[in-house]
Amino acid sequence: MSRSTARPRRKLNQYVVVLVGLALLGGLYTALAPRTTAQEEPQQGSSDQSLAVKAGRDLYLQGCSTCHGLNLQGGAGGPSLIGVGEASVVFQVESGRMPLANGTVQAPRKDPKYTIAQVDQLAAYIQANGGGPTLPEGSLTDGDLQEGGELFRLNCASCHNFAGSGGALTYGKYAPELAPASARVIYSAMQSGPESMPRFGDGQLSVEEKKAITYYVRYITTATQPGGNDLGKYGPVPEGLVMWLAGIGGLVVMTLWIGNRA
Ligand code: HEC
Ligand code: HEC
Repeated sequence: MSRSTARPRRKLNQYVVVLVGLALLGGLYTALAPRTTAQEEPQQGSSDQSLAVKAGRDLYLQGCSTCHGLNLQGGAGGPSLIGVGEASVVFQVESGRMPLANGTVQAPRKDPKYTIAQVDQLAAYIQANGGGPTLPEGSLTDGDLQEGGELFRLNCASCHNFAGSGGALTYGKYAPELAPASARVIYSAMQSGPESMPRFGDGQLSVEEKKAITYYVRYITTATQPGGNDLGKYGPVPEGLVMWLAGIGGLVVMTLWIGNRA
């Protein structure tokens, strides 16, 4: 008797599992599927854009014009922003460097004062008045990881170190650690070339190459270390040293042990 009821029940259980699985999948799909309002976006985009420029102008007049001038022309407190472009604004404001509080050798990274939406409004306003380098549409990290690594070692590691942990430059200046930088800040740093960092225009590094580097920098600064202790990420020298000490140490212990037994 126990056999005859057990089987249908197990079958029922399987149905329930399948149903729950399907329901979950459906829910996930509706939550994650791209919105299908693509047709409406263009018209909305243009009016959004002019609204953003207007909002950006208000933010600018309140927070930036004392140093950069009422018409972006610059002044005693700061340089002209005409032609610096969206990329420079995203870099400076999203990384909290701007607004500057007091004169320093090099504006330090701070907690950002503006939300991402406000950063975009400021950027739209400054972009609309003089143009300049912009950020590409879409994802900034859909590049090739290995290519990004090669390009990073070639173009960035001399100042920022192989692990992106930064380093000192001359005259009290420094190349900062890259871990706190968002993808937008990484891309816009290359696109705008702040302070003594060179600008990497699309002629030097293509959009794809900059995306690959952005992806790589995010990868090395956020990925967990799969191989245990990273030994300060200094590369093969300390790793070799540890291998040497552990290896030779092991051999010495072995010989002592063998000697003792004899
Ligand atoms: C107290 C004065 C001051 C205020 C306020 C200020 N800035 Fe600046 N800004 C500076 C100085 C000085 C520099 C140059 C600093 C440097 O090169 O590190 C600068 C540089 C910049 C740059 C880089 C320009 C370039 O050549 O690429 C941008 C963009 C910028 N500021 C945007 C802003 C925005 C947007 C605001 C308002 C949210 C703002 N700043 C508020 C003083 C100021
Ligand atoms: C000549 C030295 C030099 C080279 C080469 C260089 N940088 Fe920089 N980088 C700097 C300096 C200096 C700053 C700080 C700028 C500032 O504070 O305004 C900086 C800032 C940055 C930041 C901002 C970090 C933060 O605090 O948010 C990022 C991201 C960055 N660099 C990425 C790169 C990448 C990617 C490359 C290679 C394509 C590169 N840099 C090449 C000197 C350099």
